[in-house]
Amino acid sequence: MATMTFVEADGTEKQVDAPVGMSILEIAHRNSVDLEGACEGSLACATCHVIVDPAWYEKTGVISEDEEDMLDLAYGVEDTSRLGCQLIMTEELDGLKVRVTDEM
Ligand code: FES
Repeated sequence: MATMTFVEADGTEKQVDAPVGMSILEIAHRNSVDLEGACEGSLACATCHVIVDPAWYEKTGVISEDEEDMLDLAYGVEDTSRLGCQLIMTEELDGLKVRVTDEM
């Protein structure tokens, strides 16, 4: 079983089980991490915005144009921002670390 770490808005780190094939948004929800995801993964909001630890960003793969467009609407976007609903856990991402922001 892969694991990943969420860094919550207050800096608390939460290491959780991260089943391969599940989105980062789904993993956040099943572990009570405060990540909204208002459109439930249909790429119609940006409330699932996470900031990937720079050491992991390259491994998260290519970002789609639709995701990029939606990210333009998110607050506090950084170079390693992704949408949690579009980022799917893989074996390669075992150990992934992402930060959630409290700006929606
Ligand atoms: Fe809306 Fe990810 S949950 S874009």
